[in-house]
Amino acid sequence: MESAIITGTGIYAIPGFELEQQQIKTPFGLAQVNIARKDGFELAYLARHGLNHTTPPHNINFRANLKALQMLGVKRVLATYAVGSINREIPPMGLALLSDFLDFTNNRPLTFYEGGKSGLAHTSMDAPYCPAMGRKILELAAVHKLQIHPETVYVATNGPRFETPAEIRMYAKLGGDVVGMTGVPEVVLARELNMHYAAIAYSINWATGLEKEMEFVSEKMQEIRQKLAGLVVHTLQELKTLDCGCEKAVMFMHPPEE
Ligand code: HPA
Repeated sequence: MESAIITGTGIYAIPGFELEQQQIKTPFGLAQVNIARKDGFELAYLARHGLNHTTPPHNINFRANLKALQMLGVKRVLATYAVGSINREIPPMGLALLSDFLDFTNNRPLTFYEGGKSGLAHTSMDAPYCPAMGRKILELAAVHKLQIHPETVYVATNGPRFETPAEIRMYAKLGGDVVGMTGVPEVVLARELNMHYAAIAYSINWATGLEKEMEFVSEKMQEIRQKLAGLVVHTLQELKTLDCGCEKAVMFMHPPEE
């Protein structure tokens, strides 16, 4: 199947779709992927933290997840993330289309291409999130009565702890709009496999230090999350040929020996 959805905190189903759970064995370990079906439309569905939210951000096996999607034939991924808001223009309950990221993660596998037989590659991050998918998302948002902040810079942190006030002040100065714990290396690994990858963030709190206390809107988000799931499916169904350079992002010094 050509399309996949990856969801984050708070989304563990796709409304109206039947899920068939599968364990897929990859060179990087097992991945739990669901085949989601509705009215003849089929896509791969991965809940990043597991369907019962048991995997913390730093323990997600990103390589197994992305490799499993590739093994299923996936070429287009639409991801969603729960985030904290740094930019005052994206309040909690707001949605944001990612256009770039700042990576503050460490000790996570960064690549499929580790040298030797696995190959060696450098991947362009000119446009980490597929601009053609992004345009479609913004176009269809109105149909789903959703407002989406365009051009959003995602700050990736390791977690599982939240940030300190000084860290958030630093991220704001660097141009970060939202902060989350799972966006990297997922986007990088998808691009290493020449996939088109777009992402929508949904804010569930003001980032540390922006308000007196950190408050989470999770409970109130249900309606927005449902609409968001509808938009994500609709976007994947409507996508035709994509006029972007996503499939040319990888520059191999040595291709993998398979
Ligand atoms: N920081 C990091 N990750 C998050 C946050 C946050 O404030 N909210 C949701 N995911």
